[in-house]
Amino acid sequence: MIPDKSYNILVIDDEEPIRRLLQNELSNSRRNVHIAKSGEEGIQIVRDYWFDVVLLDLRLPDVKNLELLIKIRESVPDCEVIMITGHGDIDSAVAAMKLGAYDFIRKPFNLDRLDIIVEKAHQKVLLARENAMLRHTADSSKNSLKFIGNAEIIKDIHFLVQKVAPARIPVLITGESGVGKDVIAHLIHQNSGCAAKPMIAKNCASLQQELARSELYGHVKGSFTGATESREGLLAFANESTLFLDEIGELPLEVQASLLRVLETQTYRRIGEKEERKANVRLLFATNRKLVDEVEAGRFNEALYHRINAFTIEIPPLRQRKEDLPLLVDYFLTNLGQESENYQVVERAMAAILAYDWPGNVRELRNVIERSIILSENGLITERCLPRELVEGPQAHKSPLALNVVERNHILKMLDFYDGNKQKAAETLGISRKTLYRKLAAYAS
Ligand SMILES: Nc1ncnc2c1ncn2[C@@H]1O[C@H](COP(=O)(O)OP(=O)(O)OP(=O)(O)O)[C@@H](O)[C@H]1O
Ligand SMILES: [Mg+2]
Repeated sequence: MIPDKSYNILVIDDEEPIRRLLQNELSNSRRNVHIAKSGEEGIQIVRDYWFDVVLLDLRLPDVKNLELLIKIRESVPDCEVIMITGHGDIDSAVAAMKLGAYDFIRKPFNLDRLDIIVEKAHQKVLLARENAMLRHTADSSKNSLKFIGNAEIIKDIHFLVQKVAPARIPVLITGESGVGKDVIAHLIHQNSGCAAKPMIAKNCASLQQELARSELYGHVKGSFTGATESREGLLAFANESTLFLDEIGELPLEVQASLLRVLETQTYRRIGEKEERKANVRLLFATNRKLVDEVEAGRFNEALYHRINAFTIEIPPLRQRKEDLPLLVDYFLTNLGQESENYQVVERAMAAILAYDWPGNVRELRNVIERSIILSENGLITERCLPRELVEGPQAHKSPLALNVVERNHILKMLDFYDGNKQKAAETLGISRKTLYRKLAAYAS
């Protein structure tokens, strides 16, 4: 069995001999070394997975000097970057250090020095994470993720979360879109024994059918056409942490049986490899589908369903817990509004909020409050600050133009934030990549 205390290194270099050399030299039982051939591939992998240390070629043909370093530092601040530099690059190397690179190593490599730098960079990452954890614990009451609600059912959910979080058993979180399944997954992770490591979340709708197994388990070089390099899967990235498989109903049927095996044996194999690896991972699942119907329709593996359904947290739609609306409104006003403003919702506006059905659940409420803050004057939220369908009732709801505009703007803002990376934007928005494409196509038409 391969030891499970390991960390992840990414080598981004356009020269194949350098990639090979670094992969061979740095790989050992504690280090998983991945490679990217270009800047573009590198940033994609860095954003999708979780790395501790990146070795980055200072001169890549497809990106401007140091641009990638800045992007990596922005996307994953808790990962250390070591620059690979050539002869005469000393000025750029110094500039890189000023931009937050950990150190630089010159070609041709002194392999002993390389080993020491990588190890030290990793130590720094561990220390920084530990500090972040301590800080987080110290002010967790202020900033941490909250699942707001006082309804009896919400109290029950809080109770379940507290009870199940420290246990390692898989949990299935169900409920309509926008009810807070992501929030609950994060809360379970935060209250578990692996909170010090980040949770890895993957939306199964974004897994490519033919590559889904490889994404989950990893593969070795040459194990199938196109497998030009060995690669770790999500289970390795989530080692000693939580893997959250969102929209589990979208997982290709043929992969479902293998996932059941992982849950039962706590081991897995990379594609093309005989050796079994320990799946030291807590698995969480979410779906807004009725999985039992999917089983009936032959689209979901029945045994897997029973395995993951053993502990389910069902989040009811917002319309069934309207008593929580004032609390949620307050929460979003405080969190999304100006700190200096004292917002007030006038009675008629609150009545409209209470009367509305909230088909988009808490996400829709959040968007509506975000919009109303922009439209408010002197902190006063009146009916005029609310979308038409809320104030005018179900008839107006048929033309949800205003909400669409809010949604569209929000989606475009996210895309902008992630430099047009649809995968990342979709994940942050909590929708599938397919849904994002559909929405973008609708805006364009
Ligand atoms: N009880 C709650 N308290 C505070 N914020 C909440 C609550 N429920 C949901 N939210 C917020 O509402 C938004 C949508 O929640 P979330 O992404 O968890 O929904 P979801 O059930 O995962 O939706 P989807 O099925 O579309 O992925 C997020 O901004 C989340 O922070
Ligand atoms: Mg979600």
